[in-house]
Amino acid sequence: MHGLVVYESMFGNTRQIAEAVADGLKGGMDIEVLHADSVPGEGLGDLDLLVVGAPTHVRGMPRPGTRKGAPDNMSRPGSSLVLEPEADSRPGVREWLASLDDLRIRGAAFDTRIKGSATLTGQASRGIARSLKHLGVELIVPPESFLVDKKTRLLPGEVDRARAWGVQLAESAVARSATKS
Ligand SMILES: Cc1cc2nc3c(=O)[nH]c(=O)nc-3n(C[C@H](O)[C@H](O)[C@H](O)COP(=O)(O)O)c2cc1C
Repeated sequence: MHGLVVYESMFGNTRQIAEAVADGLKGGMDIEVLHADSVPGEGLGDLDLLVVGAPTHVRGMPRPGTRKGAPDNMSRPGSSLVLEPEADSRPGVREWLASLDDLRIRGAAFDTRIKGSATLTGQASRGIARSLKHLGVELIVPPESFLVDKKTRLLPGEVDRARAWGVQLAESAVARSATKS
């Protein structure tokens, strides 16, 4: 089986979670992790599992405007946040999803967001899940959030939880491919 984790990330949290999810998935399939602007145009239809994740920006998926403003918004005195390469200008998950045609494969969505009620914080993963479904992707687990504190640091245990989520996802994908194909 072959899986792909696609992500975008401004300050590294979502990249770290994407890598941990991929680590968990590795037990069940060959897996690759790619930034959304580096995914080849061909071959997605052959995947056994597509996992897509983004940071939550203004309650949803990042947009060019929210990416552009992020370095200023987050550069508080004493902040140790480091911008990922070209993160404020390169296209991300929203633009990549909008560029795709029908995809009859299985998938899952995740985000990172501030700890708190999802009704208040929003969840990029819901928008991602909606776009994936619209493309024809069968979501095999509900959208999942991995949480940060108000200083944009992943909460303790979230990387391990992402790895465990990846393990469960692989088990679910393997079980479905055994029963349905
Ligand atoms: C411009 C901007 C808008 C944000 N809006 C939200 C939001 O609406 N809800 C939320 O929970 N977190 C919000 N956050 C926090 C990020 O989702 C969170 O820090 C995330 O882990 C960052 O991931 P990254 O390091 O991969 O960029 C926002 C961050 C930025 C920079």
